[in-house]
Amino acid sequence: MKSENMYIVWAHPRADSLTAQMVQEIQKQATHHGINVSVLDLYRSGFNPVLGVEDEPDWSNPDKRYPAEVHRLFGELKGKDTIMIVFPLWWYSFPAMIKGYLERVWNFGLAYGGQKFPAKRVCWLALVGGSEARFEKYGWKKNMTEYLQGAGSYLGIEESHVDFLFNTIGVEEDITDRESHYQGLFKQAREKVDALVR
Ligand SMILES: Cc1cc2nc3c(=O)[nH]c(=O)nc-3n(C[C@H](O)[C@H](O)[C@H](O)COP(=O)(O)O)c2cc1C
Repeated sequence: MKSENMYIVWAHPRADSLTAQMVQEIQKQATHHGINVSVLDLYRSGFNPVLGVEDEPDWSNPDKRYPAEVHRLFGELKGKDTIMIVFPLWWYSFPAMIKGYLERVWNFGLAYGGQKFPAKRVCWLALVGGSEARFEKYGWKKNMTEYLQGAGSYLGIEESHVDFLFNTIGVEEDITDRESHYQGLFKQAREKVDALVR
């Protein structure tokens, strides 16, 4: 059987953040299932998320050469079955680091514009500070899920999974036992990985 390959892209300024710990948990669980995992830590790799003139698509030329960093990072997606994007929810969206990664690396002529996207599956995992009830009440769950799945369809990605871990700040919904609350979040992250191998 061909072994599964997973590529985790994540962004958080702190290497000891809950987001970072979630990435480690996912990596550990995937490895436990025999999945080969590689990780792109956007902050500590020195990635520049600001799209410059050199990154701008030339709509008449899908073969445009972008900066070497863009081609190198896009090349890292090749041969991957699952791309997992892990991020803290900031202003009901992803951090600028992730947005810039998508703008620059998943570029015209590489990720779209006649090319087949390299991976069959993309999983988005957002850590949400507040409660699920509030997130749903204001339409954010539907909004973000449709947005990210729509982006996946545009790229021709076979499977897009959008998941959220709620209450990451741990102050809403009368959480009394914080330790078990956070253990529950780690368990949910492991279960997302388990679902991929079923
Ligand atoms: C700039 C910024 C914006 C944020 N925006 C939101 C938001 O829109 N909704 C929300 O529920 N939490 C929001 N949060 C809280 C984060 O989602 C929360 O801190 C994060 O999920 C916790 O993970 P961490 O410890 O790895 O940072 C925001 C936090 C920051 C720093």
